[in-house]
Amino acid sequence: MRRLLPQFYLLLVLSLSSWGAFAFEPIAYTVMGSKGEGVLRWLTSASSCPEVTWDSRASVRMLLRAGQQDVPLRGGQQTDQKSAKFELAVCEAVWPKGVQSARIEQTVTSAPKQKFQRILVIADTGCRMKASENAFQDCNDSHAWPFAKIVERALQHKPDLVVHIGDLHYRESPCPDGRVGCQQSPWGYGSDAWTADFFNPAKALLQSTPWLFVRGNHESCARAGQGWFRYLDASPFQNNRSCDLPMHDGVADFTPPFAIALNAHTQFLVFDSSATAGKSLSPDSAMFKTYQQQMVDVTRLAGEKTNNIFLSHHPLLAVAPSKTHAAATAGGNRALLSVLNALDAQTPWFQKISYLMHGHIHAFEAMSFKSQHPASFVLGNAGSAMEGVLPANLPADFEVAPRAVVEHFTTQPDYGFALLDVSDQPHSPWTLTEFDVQGRAVHTCTLLERKSTCVAQ
Ligand SMILES: [Fe+2]
Repeated sequence: MRRLLPQFYLLLVLSLSSWGAFAFEPIAYTVMGSKGEGVLRWLTSASSCPEVTWDSRASVRMLLRAGQQDVPLRGGQQTDQKSAKFELAVCEAVWPKGVQSARIEQTVTSAPKQKFQRILVIADTGCRMKASENAFQDCNDSHAWPFAKIVERALQHKPDLVVHIGDLHYRESPCPDGRVGCQQSPWGYGSDAWTADFFNPAKALLQSTPWLFVRGNHESCARAGQGWFRYLDASPFQNNRSCDLPMHDGVADFTPPFAIALNAHTQFLVFDSSATAGKSLSPDSAMFKTYQQQMVDVTRLAGEKTNNIFLSHHPLLAVAPSKTHAAATAGGNRALLSVLNALDAQTPWFQKISYLMHGHIHAFEAMSFKSQHPASFVLGNAGSAMEGVLPANLPADFEVAPRAVVEHFTTQPDYGFALLDVSDQPHSPWTLTEFDVQGRAVHTCTLLERKSTCVAQ
């Protein structure tokens, strides 16, 4: 394979209005927007947007969010590279208040509920094809890559909302010759890889349930960020928030935090950690300053509700898996923790948060603390290849981060998904149930007043 030189200086983006000839059944889906609104989207191979009919009102034409494009190569981390070809356009319209349903062509879909009580929480769902680590999952085998099975099982629980905590796109490199398990798979950052990795397996849940997307490192600008902004981001599409040109990465890689209410007392706080580093940050660095301001903004948002669930792809308080043997090793993101440690001297950031939910580590973890830290969950076991082993137990008074003393720790090292059942009363217990791929409950956790206790089923 020849290596292509980065050509990000090429500003020409080809508009291919003649596309739309191939067969693709459109998908209607709702993304929770950064102002709390539901945004109805229509993924299509057509080059124009359809009309939407809200209840029995007059039809209105949807607006084009991002059209079909072949975006010039901007350079990436893998040896084999190609331009990101977006053969699928996406149209959108904001759900009007009070509307119950929408019809686009022959597709009818329901409005997001006023309150979200049952929430499916997943992360790290794509099929890994990554030459730089010589890591290739058997994407054609539903046992080796079980995301579609997880979608099927999760649908049976009829969630009100799906929360995806990042890393949807994993097909970055071509499947090697002779590797049967991933032969014929599309790869790269265009819509064919996005469709194979996410839209096709998630289709039934996309059409039935609104989604709240949290951005992972796989969706950073240097990787699949172009598709992220076209299809999934919670704000209007803008040229400087497209990842098409690296000169805008300083904006596009740090989208502002926002809140999504579940009810009058509880909200999700969504944080974009996609570009975070693996090491502590210098307080003088631009990344430190940006994250510090965004973490302050999170505490301001947290003041608006009694219960706040902080969502970031990279964990803050977690145990890291080991490649060789189960060991108690802190797994929180060092860059974000360096920001929070500095902030903690001024304001106790962790005390403003009720619960933490993350992905990135491909396992289920639940931990609760003796210290004043919020209970933390890692939910990154929903399809992408598992990585390493975790200890079943931690040493007494193990500190997973400075002064964060673990009281309870539970892990399930295999594929699965979590259902969070939230009460709309401000101080009532919630339940988080972790299921395996067969749909069997394996752990049930009770969440109350920032603590969690889990029981094996
Ligand atoms: Fe990740």
